[in-house]
Amino acid sequence: MSTTNSSKAQDGQAAAGAPAARPRRSDGAMNPRVHDWHGRRVWVIGASTGIGAETARLLLARGARVALSARRAEPLQAIADGSDDVGRGKPGNEQPAGQALVLPLDITSHSQVLAARDALVAAWQGVDLVMIVAGIYNEMRADSFDMQSVNQVLDVNLRGAFHCVDAALPMLRQQPGSGLAIVSSVAGYSGLPRALVYGPTKAALINLAESLYCDLHAQGNAVYLINPGFVETPATAGNDFEMPALISAAEAAQHIVKGIERGEFHIHFPKRFTNWLRLARLLPYRSYFWLIRKVTGL
Ligand SMILES: NC(=O)c1ccc[n+]([C@@H]2O[C@H](COP(=O)([O-])OP(=O)(O)OC[C@H]3O[C@@H](n4cnc5c(N)ncnc54)[C@H](OP(=O)(O)O)[C@@H]3O)[C@@H](O)[C@H]2O)c1
Repeated sequence: MSTTNSSKAQDGQAAAGAPAARPRRSDGAMNPRVHDWHGRRVWVIGASTGIGAETARLLLARGARVALSARRAEPLQAIADGSDDVGRGKPGNEQPAGQALVLPLDITSHSQVLAARDALVAAWQGVDLVMIVAGIYNEMRADSFDMQSVNQVLDVNLRGAFHCVDAALPMLRQQPGSGLAIVSSVAGYSGLPRALVYGPTKAALINLAESLYCDLHAQGNAVYLINPGFVETPATAGNDFEMPALISAAEAAQHIVKGIERGEFHIHFPKRFTNWLRLARLLPYRSYFWLIRKVTGL
C-alpha cells in the first residue's frame, strides 16, 4: 500500500511493511474511518451495472482510483471513460488518465480472478479496498427446484466470492489498513420464501464476512459486510411483486460509501426496511414464520 498519502496516516492506517497490530479505535468505529478518497485504490468486482456500477461512479467522482471488473468489458470501459454519464442524462465526466482501470473477468473462473489481481498489482502496486459486489439473483421455491440453477447461483455467489477472497488475501496481508467489502443481502438474515438458493448463498456470505472480520481485524485490515434491501437494478427488474422500501442503485451507492467512510462493519440499508428484518430474525421461529407468511402471503 502506498504510504505517502497523509490522509491514510490520518485514518489510522499502518505503514507498508510495518508489523500488523490490532487497531485500537477510540472513536467507536469497527473499521478505520475514511476521510478522503483521493488516490485510494479500489477494486470493484461486479461493476458493470447496478449497485457496483453506481458505487464505482461515486468513488471515481470522489477522486478514488477504481479498477472495474465484471464479465462485460464495454460497460466497464464506458464507466472508466465517464462516457456513459451522457447516455444517463448527466454531463460527460471524463476521468483523469489512470484513474480507472478495466479488468474484465468471470468470477466463476479462479484463474481469471487471479490474473486480474496480478494485472492490478502490476499497474497500481496494490489495492486499498477490494469490493465483492458481483452476484446473481434467482427466484426459486421448493416446487420449482432446479439443480442447474442451484449450481449456477452457487458458482457465482459463493465459489466466485471465495475466488475473490483468495485473490485479495495476499494483498491485504501485505497492506495493513487495506480492506475487503462483501455485498451480501438481507435475504441472508433468515429463511424467506422465493429465496431457496439465493438466500443460503447470501447467508454464507454474511458468515464469511463475520469470520474474516475475526481474522483480519486483528492484523489491521478493514472488513465490511454490506446488506442491501431492495434496490432497483437489472437483477430485480423481473420481480413481479411489490418490493418494499425500494431504492435506486445511486442511493445504495451513497449508503455504501457513507458506511465505509464512517468505519461501519455492518452496512445495511434502507434502515426502515432492514431494521424490521433484523428484528424479525430475533423472534422465536413460530412467530417469525407467522409474520413472514402474513407479510408476503406465501
Ligand atoms: N438489487 C437488489 O435488490 C439487491 C439486494 C440485496 C443484495 N444485492 C446484491 O448486490 C449485488 C449487485 O447486484 P445488483 O442488484 O446491482 O445486480 P446487477 O445490476 O445484475 O449487477 C450484478 C453485477 O455482477 C456482475 N456479475 C454477475 N455474474 C458475474 C460473473 N460470473 N463474473 C463477474 N461478474 C459477474 C455483473 O456483471 P456482468 O454481467 O457484466 O458480468 C454485474 O456487474 C449482488 O451481489 C446482489 O446479490 C442486490
